[in-house]
Amino acid sequence: MTTFPERVFSGVQPTGNLHLGNYLGAIKKFVALQETHECVYCVVDLHAITVPQDPAELKSTIREVTAAFIAAGIDPKKHIVFNQSQVPEHAELAWVFNCVARMGWLNRMTQFKDKAGKNTENVSVGLFAYPTLMAADILVYRATHVPVGEDQKQHLELSRDIAQKFNNDYAASIAAHGHGDAFFPLPEPLIQGPATRVMSLRDGTKKMSKSDASDYSRLNLSDDRDTIAQKIRKAKTDPEPLPSEADGLKGRPEADNLVGIYAALSGDSRAEVLQRFGGQNFSAFKSALVDVAVASLEPVGSEMKRLLGDVAHLDAVLNDGARRARVLAAETMTAVKDILGFVR
Ligand code: TYM
Repeated sequence: MTTFPERVFSGVQPTGNLHLGNYLGAIKKFVALQETHECVYCVVDLHAITVPQDPAELKSTIREVTAAFIAAGIDPKKHIVFNQSQVPEHAELAWVFNCVARMGWLNRMTQFKDKAGKNTENVSVGLFAYPTLMAADILVYRATHVPVGEDQKQHLELSRDIAQKFNNDYAASIAAHGHGDAFFPLPEPLIQGPATRVMSLRDGTKKMSKSDASDYSRLNLSDDRDTIAQKIRKAKTDPEPLPSEADGLKGRPEADNLVGIYAALSGDSRAEVLQRFGGQNFSAFKSALVDVAVASLEPVGSEMKRLLGDVAHLDAVLNDGARRARVLAAETMTAVKDILGFVR
């Protein structure tokens, strides 16, 4: 079996407010993985335009996500931070993958069904093909590990299926070109910890999302101390005190969500959190939650604001990251063209 050097890739869409779900499900993990892996982190602007975007707003949101990466602790000198549209090989490999993936596979994607709703005839072709571009993002770097939230699990499975089918369909050519028995690794999703699916603060059965109409449903990375405190105090709960054991959270989605958030922010396990707060009412627990949330998020938010004051610096980071990413991506595309039989 061909073995691949470990490399981490992940992406975040520049489509509005970055929130606690993005932070705990993804960005915080991106930061931790820098210690052990070579990492490539991407602002996926090509994915953003699968639904309508205002050009001026898109430009500022791309910079906002870049600022969030850096403010959270990603080092763009040691690792690679860039925006997708500056590396054309993503779109190029996505086309190849459109010819590898099957309609039936994409038809099963639940996120497409959710986003398209009843409107399937009228959404963009890009929205349907979204997951093949995602596979290209990862595999153009032959990345082996992908930190994401729970909602991306199905897309990651599809990326593995695409990699596997490419390896099978072109097995003879892959071997003939000296790549052994596989050209692409099967990328592994990294979805662990107490907050892989952070829920809305207003409804514990709904995912916390950038697009929820109510700003009270989420903690934004840009929220100041008072806003964070106010949103947590207003967060929906139930009348019972907190349980001391995980079993007691069954059927209590809001309580379960807040405990998960506390655990992820503080670094304690859920069991430890329940041991400490079991038997207490929500007002005491919420005060403690405000403290850990402010301590984690407020420094990121204020550093983001500072970074956004120097747009030229942020753009330079993206340009430099794109230049380095292109070297890696171009190498993969050259090999892919040879494997496919293209003349170059
Ligand atoms: P996006 O921009 O919607 O979200 C960015 C990351 O945040 C995670 N996330 C959450 N985690 C926990 N709880 C939540 N409520 C929550 N909401 C969002 C997402 O799982 C994601 O990890 N398709 C991707 C972007 C992408 C990508 C890729 C990711 C494009 N290409 C390649 C990995 C690899 C997306 O829409 O993420």
